[in-house]
Amino acid sequence: MSEFLKACRGEATSYTPIWLMRQAGRYQAEYRALKAQYSFMQMVQTPEIATQVTMLPIKQFELDAAILFADILLVLEPLGVGFEFDKEHGPRIGQPLRTAANVDAIAEEIHAADSLGYVMRTIELVKQELSGKVPLIGFAGAPFTLASYMIEGGGSRDYLHTKEMMFSDRGAWDTLMTRLVDALADYLLCQVRAGVDALQIFDSWIGCLSPHVYETHVQPHMARLFAALRQEAKNVPVIHFGTGNPSLYPAMAAAGGDVIGVDWRVDLGSQWQALGNVSIQGNMDPGYLLAPKQQLHAAAQHVLDSADGRPGHIFNLGHGIFPRAPIDSVRALVDYVHEASSR
Ligand code: CP3
Repeated sequence: MSEFLKACRGEATSYTPIWLMRQAGRYQAEYRALKAQYSFMQMVQTPEIATQVTMLPIKQFELDAAILFADILLVLEPLGVGFEFDKEHGPRIGQPLRTAANVDAIAEEIHAADSLGYVMRTIELVKQELSGKVPLIGFAGAPFTLASYMIEGGGSRDYLHTKEMMFSDRGAWDTLMTRLVDALADYLLCQVRAGVDALQIFDSWIGCLSPHVYETHVQPHMARLFAALRQEAKNVPVIHFGTGNPSLYPAMAAAGGDVIGVDWRVDLGSQWQALGNVSIQGNMDPGYLLAPKQQLHAAAQHVLDSADGRPGHIFNLGHGIFPRAPIDSVRALVDYVHEASSR
């Protein structure tokens, strides 16, 4: 079994496996060249191109896992919520959901095998190209993060439309979260059937909530999603990633996940101690990719020291690589983690 999958299961590895969130993207010249020819949606919806992009970082660096080239927002289309990627403002939802009637109008089932069939086709092609070299991670956005996109209409500073619905119309909120969990279970299980070796659930915007609100309005829905995955795909490890509010990690871990993905705001070692018997992924500040090699190496070493060789650590950044990250720094990080952690 690969070192990445062993670490997901909490088993000892001969070195610390590493992959990087957003490992395919604008920081790569090859990606920018493709982006000059195709829109982002054309790239993800054309399995041959999505496969090529998934493979870019695998060919460039000694990464221990590939991640499917797709986006958390793709599932919105079969739910009946139109969106587009606006060059200046990022993703934009055409008609944000603001009322119970808006929520009722979204699809109850998405039939992911058909509606998102292009993603499954990409998975099959990537698996062929990888031919067992490293495992492939499939993914989806978490229900809260997707709900907040659908309600806000895009990114947000304060998530007030989302909180307004959560706190004033519990029925509409629960209906929305229930439909999202059903859609995501269908989508993620289709990815497993198509061949992914692990899954990551991105709860990227969850940090705007308190532990109490997470526990009352989000955790029961997350627990249902993890239960659905466990029931049909119990051998596929699931990484549960959240960012922004470290005090949520215990409640997130209680909801589910074989691996908890943490951002750079926590000390990895003490957070792991507090979470107990799970694997952990993280958590170097991506900002170190802009620092000289010596500082970059020291920061990576600090994360390794914090994990202290305990089985079950997957090295990653605390959040995604950004467009101006230098290629040489990414390579230096990957190589350093392998060399410094070889046991
Ligand atoms: O990690 C990977 O390499 C796999 C591919 C991947 C993308 N998006 C490609 C992408 C993954 C896992 C995502 C997840 C995603 N998408 C998240 C969660 C991850 C996180 O950062 O917490 C979120 C919040 C989104 C929504 C999204 N998609 C935004 C906000 C944007 C615009 C931001 C930007 O960088 O322009 C996207 C577009 C997007 N998704 C790009 C990529 C490579 C950039 C598209 C481009 O080339 O312009």
